[in-house]
Amino acid sequence: MSQLQTLARRFPPGFLFGTATASYQIEGGHDVDGKGPSIWDTFCLRPGAISTGETGEIACDHYHRWREDVALMRELGLGAYRCSISWPRVLPSGTGARNEKGLEFYDRLVDELLGNGVRPFVTLYHWDLPQALQEKGGWAEPGVVDAFGAYADLVARRLGDRVSDWMTLNEPEVVAYAGHHVGVHAPGIRDFHAAVLVSHHLLLAHRAGAEAIRAARPAARVGIALNLSPCEPATDSPEDLAAATRADGYLNRWFLDPLHGRGYPKDMVALYAPYFDRARELDGYQGRLDFLGVNYYTRRVTKAGDGPLQLERVEREGAERTAIGWEVHPASFRKILTRVHRDYAPREMFVTENGAAYDDIVDDDRVDDPARVSFLSRHFLAAAEAIGDGVPLRGYFVWTLMDNFEWAHGTSKRFGIIHTDYRTQRRRIKSSGHWYRELIAAHRGAHVSAAAT
Ligand code: FCB
Repeated sequence: MSQLQTLARRFPPGFLFGTATASYQIEGGHDVDGKGPSIWDTFCLRPGAISTGETGEIACDHYHRWREDVALMRELGLGAYRCSISWPRVLPSGTGARNEKGLEFYDRLVDELLGNGVRPFVTLYHWDLPQALQEKGGWAEPGVVDAFGAYADLVARRLGDRVSDWMTLNEPEVVAYAGHHVGVHAPGIRDFHAAVLVSHHLLLAHRAGAEAIRAARPAARVGIALNLSPCEPATDSPEDLAAATRADGYLNRWFLDPLHGRGYPKDMVALYAPYFDRARELDGYQGRLDFLGVNYYTRRVTKAGDGPLQLERVEREGAERTAIGWEVHPASFRKILTRVHRDYAPREMFVTENGAAYDDIVDDDRVDDPARVSFLSRHFLAAAEAIGDGVPLRGYFVWTLMDNFEWAHGTSKRFGIIHTDYRTQRRRIKSSGHWYRELIAAHRGAHVSAAAT
């Protein structure tokens, strides 16, 4: 039996193999058919915001090429596809009048997915807030919570007869801090106070959105996608150990605790006291996630330092890294999955993103990406080990279907298992895509023959 077949057999029958994307990163069509601008449309125009000077105005032109893209998913044999809805495409001003043409786009996409045997997992917010809401204060203003609830209601009513799996938000930590503290993401604000408030409004919005989806569609399954990582101390000094605990509180527990009925973690509420006094608003909230989505790329190593969190990130010398500079550390993937299961026991878990940027070798019809094949093999193995540890992992979405607009890096970082030629919009399946197709086929084959014997 080949290594790939052995790996495939470690995933239980019914395990979902998918890929993930996000609306702003692939759709393009930024101003067509009544779509309103998002904060990313605005942010990309700010000089210096995107390292390549690009925008996502065209991206992969998926808005026009969705049929071809779904055909590629079928070719890979994907069982599921995680995509996001562009809020300003369906509600150009964020609230109020809906854009029928935008809703029809997602109708067609969902129908095409289902017609090709691909189960849609829909994220409501993957970072493209309507600019009109930003002008009222965006995520830092409490009115955004009800606006998100109304948006969730609209989309769940419209698509919920065909979509059963929902994620309210993608990576609230990144929305809050990359967008409002470090300022490298839209809306490009640098204010820690605002960032903590935004993280709170995001959690309130998750609650409002989940309630709206369940009210509209009682059978819906509602989750969220969090970016989680083990946080390791740089040394075993008490100062660095304490810094790692703060990093874990900031990145993991601040979101996991209130989503699992525990309210905000007390140590972090104390640390944030100069910035934030609304922690009690989530007291008593039970969370009740149907599933937890984990996005994992790398681990975090920290030492004691400055700033509101009094810590500094440490990059280990000589570590294996991807083309975006992130350390490759599959053991941490198993570790975070088993830790979340042990400490929080979510009913079901999905890997909602995992993947890697590499500079691929393009040669006419072939796009070779052995480094990505190696990355994915090792991370799928780590996930299989986590399943062996008892983690209720039900599916795995590779980031990402095709090379796309990687936020502040523009198109310079390629994460796809399909290559995108941005000049011609030609798509070519990379060797990692072929590897994935074989893994999926081997999994299917193993369970079909097991069922027959
Ligand atoms: C995650 C984002 C996703 C993509 C990957 C590389 O943080 O959710 O959109 O940019 O990183």
